[in-house]
Amino acid sequence: MALLILMPNRDSSELEGALRRCEPQLDLRVWPQCGDPADIVFVVSWNHPPGELRRFPSLRAVASFGAGVDHMLGDHDFPCGVEVVRMIDDDLVRDMAEYVCCAVLSHRRSWLHYHDLARERRWRPSPYPRSSRVVVLGLGRLGRVAARRLHSFGLDVIGWSRSLKSIEGIKCIQGRPALESALAGADYVACLLPLTPETEGILDASLFACMKPGAYLINVGRGRHLIEADLLAALDQARLGGACLDVFVTEPLPADHPFWNHPRITITPHVASLTNQESVAAQILDSYRRAVEGRPLLNRVDLERGY
Ligand SMILES: NC(=O)c1ccc[n+]([C@@H]2O[C@H](COP(=O)([O-])OP(=O)(O)OC[C@H]3O[C@@H](n4cnc5c(N)ncnc54)[C@H](OP(=O)(O)O)[C@@H]3O)[C@@H](O)[C@H]2O)c1
Repeated sequence: MALLILMPNRDSSELEGALRRCEPQLDLRVWPQCGDPADIVFVVSWNHPPGELRRFPSLRAVASFGAGVDHMLGDHDFPCGVEVVRMIDDDLVRDMAEYVCCAVLSHRRSWLHYHDLARERRWRPSPYPRSSRVVVLGLGRLGRVAARRLHSFGLDVIGWSRSLKSIEGIKCIQGRPALESALAGADYVACLLPLTPETEGILDASLFACMKPGAYLINVGRGRHLIEADLLAALDQARLGGACLDVFVTEPLPADHPFWNHPRITITPHVASLTNQESVAAQILDSYRRAVEGRPLLNRVDLERGY
């Protein structure tokens, strides 16, 4: 009844320590030192090599080390009947909402502009908009809380999801035509979608063409939601006013990437919402015990749907 950490190219020592502190008796293995493959009943995965999970005949469940599971979607040899859960908690949700609010509010109140002016000792007050509209793409665990927080600042918030939602204070919409009309009046667009075959490349020239000229884009979903060349073209043509990006097609962002020096792009290094190792350890152990005891798992993911 062993638990295996399978996270190639990632330092898992912090997670390992947290799991051992929570449950000293746990039979914990760290890939590639798996011992007898038949002992492994639960795997914590981040970018596991495709097909690797088939080596474990007793495997009952796999936990994604994070809120996203797109790293698993490419494994076409994923073993049948093995359940998938993801790690998400109140801190992750709160931190994401905080990041999205920071991105919108600091742009709305010209925070970086005044920072630059202050360095030059220039006193140049200018008015700020009386109202702003934000479209939030994705109303899942993260998106719906971010939408509510934005609304609590008095912003006009529209939320878009696959199935129609009902959230107090938020105008909820579904379908591409409704999205396109919402974008025409939006000052901010924040992407909190999961990366799936349907959402890959959604932030492209055709979407930017629907947006209000000068609108500001925030991407905290995944880098592959964005067609990076289309964003550069939209900024150069002043179709978009700016962008705040936390996720990129290639991470770390290569030193010669044109985003680095772009005056209207703000970059953060995939830190919108960071996994808390102690909280994740507790969630992993709960899922492990549930899997061992045959009880229903929490935060299950539908790999067919992709999220
Ligand atoms: N940058 C960071 O630090 C960071 C940290 C954590 C997570 N993330 C990213 O944030 C993503 C979202 O997380 P979450 O926990 O909120 O996800 P979630 O709970 O799975 O919710 C996903 C939302 O997206 C909607 N959606 C999915 N496919 C869609 C489509 N084709 N068209 C319209 N709406 C669609 C879903 O609609 P329905 O409700 O109708 O199903 C749902 O509202 C993660 O997948 C991850 O990539 C980033």
